[in-house]
Amino acid sequence: GAPVEVDLSKLQPGEKMTVEWQGKPVWILRRTPEMLASLKGAEDRLVDPKSEAPQQPAYVKGEARAIKPEYFVCIGICTHLGCSPSDKLKKGAESGMGESWPGGFLCPCHGSQFDLAGRVFKSMPAPSNLVIPPHTYLSDTRLLIG
Ligand code: FES
Repeated sequence: GAPVEVDLSKLQPGEKMTVEWQGKPVWILRRTPEMLASLKGAEDRLVDPKSEAPQQPAYVKGEARAIKPEYFVCIGICTHLGCSPSDKLKKGAESGMGESWPGGFLCPCHGSQFDLAGRVFKSMPAPSNLVIPPHTYLSDTRLLIG
């Protein structure tokens, strides 16, 4: 399929947008400093904290799983059986997920939980982190997916 160009200029910190690429939903979450901080310190609760399994392009590095940590780009399809996880972006009880929730995504089908880098928590039905599509930045606010 053709690459999809996305204008990020109207995406506010803390907001997520969805675009379609190859018939799949691609999420773009603009993470706040608090959201990025939530990615630290939970390594022992995650299946693959460094995301060493190949669900992402080689140029995506580190715990943020992003080229630019502020923008998290991933395919919004659960790695278990393909449902679309729901946003539970706010940490703690505000997301209805309990006080220890760091912010992330919840799959409604069988309850898999992912953090704000799409990393799956242990003991979930989903075996691996959410998949990151090939992408590149054309400018500070223009993203090309595919
Ligand atoms: Fe997401 Fe089963 S499809 S937990």
